[in-house]
Amino acid sequence: MRTTFFEQLERNLKAAKAEGVYKESLFLESPMAPTATIEGHGKVVILSSNNYCGLANHPEVVQAGIEGLQKYGAGTGSVRFICGSFSIHKTLEAEIADFLKKGSALTYVSCWAANTGLIPTITTDKDIIISDALNHASIIDGCKMASKGVKKAVYAHSNMDELRNLLRDSQSYENRFIITDGVFSMEGDIARLPEIVALAKEFDAIIIMDDSHSTGVLGKTGAGTAEHFGLEKEIDIVTGTLGKTLGGAAGGFVSGPKALIDTLFQKSRPMLFSNALPATVAGSALKAIQVLRRDPAILTRLRANTAYFREELLKMGYHPHPGEAAIIPIILGETAKAIAASKKLLEKKVFVTGFGFPVVPEGSARIRIQMSAALSKENLDFALNALRELKGEMGL
Ligand SMILES: Cc1ncc(COP(=O)(O)O)c(C=O)c1O
Repeated sequence: MRTTFFEQLERNLKAAKAEGVYKESLFLESPMAPTATIEGHGKVVILSSNNYCGLANHPEVVQAGIEGLQKYGAGTGSVRFICGSFSIHKTLEAEIADFLKKGSALTYVSCWAANTGLIPTITTDKDIIISDALNHASIIDGCKMASKGVKKAVYAHSNMDELRNLLRDSQSYENRFIITDGVFSMEGDIARLPEIVALAKEFDAIIIMDDSHSTGVLGKTGAGTAEHFGLEKEIDIVTGTLGKTLGGAAGGFVSGPKALIDTLFQKSRPMLFSNALPATVAGSALKAIQVLRRDPAILTRLRANTAYFREELLKMGYHPHPGEAAIIPIILGETAKAIAASKKLLEKKVFVTGFGFPVVPEGSARIRIQMSAALSKENLDFALNALRELKGEMGL
C-alpha cells in the first residue's frame, strides 16, 4: 500500500480543518420538511434545502414511491436499452415533456448524468459551445467531456456583450450551442433569457438551459424560467433535476424534440452504460409534478415566503443578493466566516449552509438561504430571529 499518498490526503484534510474550511456531513434522522431532526443537533428549521415546494415528504409523493416499489420491485438489474425500463419511466417522461411543453423527455439517475450525457453526445468537432461562467459544475464537466475538437468558450456571468461577441465570431462553426442555467444556484439570479433568445435568433444558435433551480419555482404553473418569460417555444433543450423540488430524491432529465431524445437514448453514455432511475423515485417524481400542477397555491405560498423573508432581511440591515427565485444568498467574504456563520445558526437551531471556495470564487463565500412553500410564518420568524442575533454576534 502507498501509505505516503494517503498520509498526504490526511495532512490536507487536517489543514482544511485548521483553516475552518472543512465540510462536515450532517445526518437527518427524520424526513426533509420545514423542520427536521439532525443527528447531534435535534430539531432545526431547514432553510437550506432545494425542497422549494415542500413535496419531499408530501404524503401522496411518499405513497407513490411505496406503490412504485410494490409494483415494480427494487429495480431491473439492467441498463435501459437491454431490459432496464419500467412503464413508469415512459409515463414520467411524458409528464415532464407535457409540463415543460416540450416534444419529448428522457430521465437519467441525476441531472449530473443528464448534463454530462447530453453535451458530449450532441456536439461534434465542427461545433462551438458557449457557456455562462457561473453555470453549474455538471455543465462545466459536460463541456470538458465533449470531444477535444469541440470549441468551448465562456462568457462572463450574464454578460450579453461578451455572448454577442462570441456568437459573432463563431459563424464558421456548424452549430453554436449557448448553455445557461435558468436560475444560477449560488447567486439565485435568473438568466437573461429574452436577450439570450434574441441573440440565438440573430446568430442561429441552439439554446440549452438547465432549469434545476427554476422548475417548481418560476412561471405561472411552475414550469420554470422559459414560462416565467413566456419563451417556452424558444428554448431548444431544457435539462433539470428531480432531486430538488420535484420529489427531492434523485433523478434528472433532458427534454426537447423527439429526435434529440431518441439520439440520447441511442448514444449518450450514462444511458447506455448505467441503470435507470429506480421505480420508487420515478413514482414519487411523477406524483410531485402532478401535485404541483394541480395545486397552484403551492407556488403562491413559496413566492409569499420568499418576498417576506427578503423584506425582513433588508429591514434588519442584511444585503441579500437580489433576485426573484427562491435562493437568497448573503455574501460574507472569507470561507471560514461563512462556515462559522452556518455553525452559529445551527447552534440556534436554524440550518443554513455556508459555501466557500471552490464552490464559489475566493472572497465571495456566503450563506445561502433557500425558501420553501412548506415553511410556516412561525418557522420564518424563528429563523429571522436567529439571523438577527447572528448579525450582532458576528458584526455582519
Ligand atoms: C443547476 C444544477 N444543475 C444540475 C444539478 C445536479 O443535479 P442532480 O443532483 O440531479 O445531479 C444541480 C444540483 O446541485 C444544479 O444546481
